[in-house]
Amino acid sequence: MISPEKKSKSEKNKNEKNMQNVINTKSQPKSQPKKDKKTGSKKVNNEIYIVGAGPGDEKLITVKGRELLKKADLVIYAGSLVNPKVLEYTKGECVDSYGLTLDETTKLTVDAVNAGKRVVRLHSGDPALYGSIVEQTEELKKYGIFAKRVPGVSSVFAVAAALETQFTLNNVSDSLIITRPAGTTLESDQIAEFSEMGVTMAIFLGTQKIEEIMNKVRCPKTTPVAVVFHASWEDEEVIRGTVADIAKKVKDAGIKRSAMIIIGDVVDPKNYAKSYLYGVKQGPLD
Ligand SMILES: C[S@@+](CC[C@H](N)C(=O)[O-])C[C@H]1O[C@@H](n2cnc3c(N)ncnc32)[C@H](O)[C@@H]1O
Repeated sequence: MISPEKKSKSEKNKNEKNMQNVINTKSQPKSQPKKDKKTGSKKVNNEIYIVGAGPGDEKLITVKGRELLKKADLVIYAGSLVNPKVLEYTKGECVDSYGLTLDETTKLTVDAVNAGKRVVRLHSGDPALYGSIVEQTEELKKYGIFAKRVPGVSSVFAVAAALETQFTLNNVSDSLIITRPAGTTLESDQIAEFSEMGVTMAIFLGTQKIEEIMNKVRCPKTTPVAVVFHASWEDEEVIRGTVADIAKKVKDAGIKRSAMIIIGDVVDPKNYAKSYLYGVKQGPLD
């Protein structure tokens, strides 16, 4: 009979050999990450972490994200929107994924995992918004590598903090639309239609097209608009205006990227109803 320890070692070797074959042949194993038979809990190294770096301020990463960075041997981070101060949490190698193709980042990750390295893929804000994690994880699965996700504070929430407002406010707006304008990777957008709904709209990736966006929206020209550059960074900048004048103000300030557009009355909250949360009339909470 084979001892559990020997069995674990031989299975690990078998796994490693299989993984090598996978890389060589580009076949697609469908197995799930395996438990280490010896400890019963630790996983063998066929997984990576996709971590949200937060909006900029290095203290706005989660504790879990920071711990993973500390242990990482390789950090592949998403360009200029990840504050270099966040990268100081790791002693591992840091590679900027800007300009790398999906195949190139996949190869980098697969090679590192096969070399026994702990890999963190670091995305700005929260990885679930305007990231490319689904395609990345699908590719990695082909090599038997599984990605675990650690959420982050999206820049949209750092923007609300910078504006000292809330996106949902009684009597003003009960909904938040998160969207982006059409561009090279998006044929058409729904900004005009959304702007008729009278709710808060957060527009990512749109600062360069602010004039076009303001000409397109169908809400009153007096609707408050704010543009927040580098929310939570040391050089954060807030520009406030209306649909009628924000584009000029943003142009004058020289802001072209790394900013978010917020359209709606919550930017300048008036006539809102107090929340029932702290009131005497409190009913059942959902
Ligand atoms: C590719 S998206 C990434 C969004 C990210 N996943 C998030 O949750 O914040 C990049 C866009 O997010 C917005 N953005 C990211 N960080 C920002 C910040 N600190 N302040 C304002 N906008 C930011 C900008 O609109 C930028 O063009």
